Amino acid sequence: PRLWLIIPAAGAGKRMNSARPKQYLSLRGSLILDLAIESMSDCFASDNTALAGCIVAISVDDPWWCDTRASQNDRVTSVTGGQERADSVLAALDALDGQAGPDDWVLVHDAARPCLHPDDLNRLLTELKDHQVGGLLAAPVTDTLKKTAAGGQDVLETVDRSQLWRALTPQMFRFGILRCALKSALAAGLPVTDEASAVEQAGYFPCIVEGRPDNIKITVPADLALADFVLSRF
Ligand code: C5P
Repeated sequence: PRLWLIIPAAGAGKRMNSARPKQYLSLRGSLILDLAIESMSDCFASDNTALAGCIVAISVDDPWWCDTRASQNDRVTSVTGGQERADSVLAALDALDGQAGPDDWVLVHDAARPCLHPDDLNRLLTELKDHQVGGLLAAPVTDTLKKTAAGGQDVLETVDRSQLWRALTPQMFRFGILRCALKSALAAGLPVTDEASAVEQAGYFPCIVEGRPDNIKITVPADLALADFVLSRF
C-alpha cells in the first residue's frame, strides 16, 4: 500500500488571540505549518518510494499559504478545508478519490503540531504496518481527573485514569475505512474531534501507539515558548 499525508490547516486558531492563525505563526525561524509538515519528513525522504503525496487543507480565503515552504514543494497540493477539522480532513480525502486505493495508508497530522519526534513517527509506521484498520499516537494521562456536572464546580467523582490516553497526531488509517467512517459520522451529526473517533463510531478498534507527551498542539500563546523549548532539546 502507498502512503498519503493529510495536514488539516484550515483552522482559525481563535484561542491564540493572534493576527494570523496559529499554524502561520513563526517558531525558531520557520512557520509552524512548515515545521509540522517537515516533522513528517521521514515520509518525504527520497528513498521512500511509498509516499504518494501530501494534501494540505487550508481555509478558503487563506493569504498565508503561498508564503510557506510546503507550497513550493511539488509533492504537496492544497485543497479548501471546511467548517470543522473533520470537514477539512474529509475534503482532503475526497481529493484523493480515484488516486488512493482502499488499503492505502493515510497519515493525518495537525498543522499546529510542530514537535513530532522522528522516533514516534517511525514507531507508528512500524507498529501499524500490518494492521487492518490503523491507529494513533497517544500519551498516558498523568494528572488526576475530576468530573463535574456540565458547567458545574462541584466534584462528582475522580475518574480512573489508568485506562485513559490523550489522543495525539499523526493518526494513521486505511484510506477506505477512514473516508467511509468520517462521511458516516459527519452525516449522522456525531462529534468528531479526531480521525480515531469516527473510526470507533464505525465499529472498529483503532490501535494506540504510545507517543511522547511533548508532541504538543499549539493552542494558547504560552505553547509557543514550550514548543521552542521542546524543539531545542531534539
Ligand atoms: O482547533 P484545533 O487546535 O483543534 O485544530 C487542530 C488542527 O485542525 C489545526 O491544524 C487546524 O488548522 C485544523 N483545522 C482545520 N479545519 C478546521 C478547524 C481546524 O483544518 N475547520
